[in-house]
Amino acid sequence: MSSRKGLIITIDGPSGAGKSTVARKLAERIGYRYLDSGAMYRAVAYAYRATGDQQEIGRFLGNLDLSFSFDEGAKVCFNGEDISTSIRSSEISLAASRISQDPKVREYCTQLQRRLGEEGGVVLEGRDTGSVVFPHADRKFFLDANVAERARRRHVEVTASETGSDESFSKIQAEIEKRDRDDSSRSLAPLIKPEGAVYVDTTEKGIDEVVDLLVKALGERP
Ligand code: DC
Repeated sequence: MSSRKGLIITIDGPSGAGKSTVARKLAERIGYRYLDSGAMYRAVAYAYRATGDQQEIGRFLGNLDLSFSFDEGAKVCFNGEDISTSIRSSEISLAASRISQDPKVREYCTQLQRRLGEEGGVVLEGRDTGSVVFPHADRKFFLDANVAERARRRHVEVTASETGSDESFSKIQAEIEKRDRDDSSRSLAPLIKPEGAVYVDTTEKGIDEVVDLLVKALGERP
């Protein structure tokens, strides 16, 4: 058995709860690696579309050439091409939510996360990182916020980026509601608060406040 480099910390929750920024900042603060599992599902969705989405999914995954680095946010390459920005569009958000319901895709992304995370010293962020990927994680958090606030955050994000800058707030809110429904009601690895997770409502909290809270919680429990 290889020795662990630190704890395995998981952060799950719906889109717009602030997971990505919080997970990245928390990892930075405590000197851990950061792993964005949503970027994996997004990358698979992007690649499936780019290669003509009629293929049998197992064969597609067997030939898939993706690489990830999470040093400064998620950097994702597909066949050597940087797709980090393209995977953030609303189209890919919905496609990722859809393709993430496929058992073979879940298995592919789960194995990838386990391989990259098992040595510890890592903050994983997603929908099922504390329930399915690492059910025995050392520390688990569940971040949440009300839907209007999550839509507001996403709206700020897309209007500041190059892609999808003309999307209306109400369209974004409707998409978030749809994704919430799909992610929570799917039969495989639905979005749930994992057993033993600390629940944090971020609706009225700033990023640094949430990170402080998590750091404090990490110090409190053995
Ligand atoms: O966190 P995100 O918005 O980048 O995730 C995109 C989609 O990927 C999300 O709608 C559902 C799926 N996903 C998942 O099923 N399991 C995860 N651990 C992370 C994301």
